[in-house]
Amino acid sequence: MSKSENKRPLISLLNPKSPVTEAYRSIRTNIDFSSLDNKVQVIMSTSATPGEGKSTTISNLAVVYAQSDKKVVLIDADLRKPTMHHTFKLSNRHGLSSLLTRQVDLANAVQDTAVSNLSVITSGPIPPNPSEMVASGRMSALIEELRDQFDIVLIDTPPMLAVTDAQIIATKSDGVVLVLDSGRVKKDMALKVQEQLNQVNAKILGVVLNNVKKKNGSGYYYYEYS
Ligand SMILES: Nc1ncnc2c1ncn2[C@@H]1O[C@H](COP(=O)(O)OP(=O)(O)O)[C@@H](O)[C@H]1O
Ligand SMILES: [Mg+2]
Repeated sequence: MSKSENKRPLISLLNPKSPVTEAYRSIRTNIDFSSLDNKVQVIMSTSATPGEGKSTTISNLAVVYAQSDKKVVLIDADLRKPTMHHTFKLSNRHGLSSLLTRQVDLANAVQDTAVSNLSVITSGPIPPNPSEMVASGRMSALIEELRDQFDIVLIDTPPMLAVTDAQIIATKSDGVVLVLDSGRVKKDMALKVQEQLNQVNAKILGVVLNNVKKKNGSGYYYYEYS
């Protein structure tokens, strides 16, 4: 088993009473409150650079949404560094890339997980043209289909500053959770990400600041974005 295969524990599942899990639940609550006027059903996570915690955040959000009795599907649309098949211990033989190239149909790409109410579409084999794939009309149609079948559609994406994939997916999502590693991302980088999201009229639902030095030591902070 490779390092990445056993190093992705899901705290919301393993430790439902921990302060970190509570923090993920409060993100969910904040999103629910921010969607009183406009329906927020399709939510993506992104960040400025790799390794800031996008996948960790969206997978834990998926668990806490599923635990609130919502029917949830999580799509691994980071077709560059996919991780959801490791996190949820699923096969990645078929997934998003296979769906978009019509090698498999939706029913065979949506996999059940050990978490009830939570389904996952893994990345599928890494394609040579991820940006084109997520920009396709087929991707939009897929998201619309999932809107009908699930209460909440969550999407993991690549980092904003590296490639255009996340900006494209933002045009198909109702809102964005931005995950920033406060130790790593400088203000100008955060502003650049904000600008790119604004360009496509993305709604930033909130910012998860990882790696925050706080007295209570949770290393983690969320604030609403306005
Ligand atoms: N809030 C957090 N507290 C501690 N470690 C975290 C947190 N969020 C992410 N990590 C760790 O940081 C690493 C990168 O996270 P990951 O979610 O894979 O980043 P990304 O998807 O943005 O590349 C992982 O090892 C993950 O376990
Ligand atoms: Mg990731």
